Amino acid sequence: MTSGEPAGFANAAAGSSGEAAAAGGATMYERVGGRDWFVALVDRFYDAVAEDPVLRPLYPEDLGPARDHLALFLIQYWGGPAEYNEERGHPRLRMRHQRFAIGDAERLAWFRHMRAAVRAGGLAPHDESEMLDYFGSTASLLMNRDRGHKVIGLGSSASR
Ligand code: HEM
Repeated sequence: MTSGEPAGFANAAAGSSGEAAAAGGATMYERVGGRDWFVALVDRFYDAVAEDPVLRPLYPEDLGPARDHLALFLIQYWGGPAEYNEERGHPRLRMRHQRFAIGDAERLAWFRHMRAAVRAGGLAPHDESEMLDYFGSTASLLMNRDRGHKVIGLGSSASR
């Protein structure tokens, strides 16, 4: 399973302005301009997490590794180099989040900070909404507690 080569079409029609890239770049990774954009996104996000009373207790004291892992993961997910897999193995996000209690409050706080971080990133509207959709649905998928704090297992509703 490789992340694939960027589709190799030469962006011949790109012509004059930078906005052509937003319309025609092969991957989100290319359209945002590569790794620096994701590193900055994750920095904005974790700066907010560091101040959040709901989320902060879930994370280790040192947020450095969490920043690195999330940035590498997103770079890989959106079409950049697959360094996350080399360093961390298969993402298995649901399993990796199982040990943190993630209910509605945690999901909402996480998404609120990520939405603000994405919106500060100056994306083309179509890319911004694609990214927000992705974060919203993935955050829902990672919930593992219901409102009454019961554990929602991997078992019964697992196969999605
Ligand atoms: C729903 C709310 C979420 C909460 C409360 C949450 C919380 C956490 C926590 C506490 C860690 C561990 C950090 C560490 O040990 O250094 C973590 C790791 C991670 N999270 Fe989340 N997360 C959430 C949603 C998401 C979403 C939506 C994504 C992806 C789109 C994501 C991607 C990751 C990645 C890639 C890691 C690093 C995994 C690893 O390599 O160990 N998380 N998260």
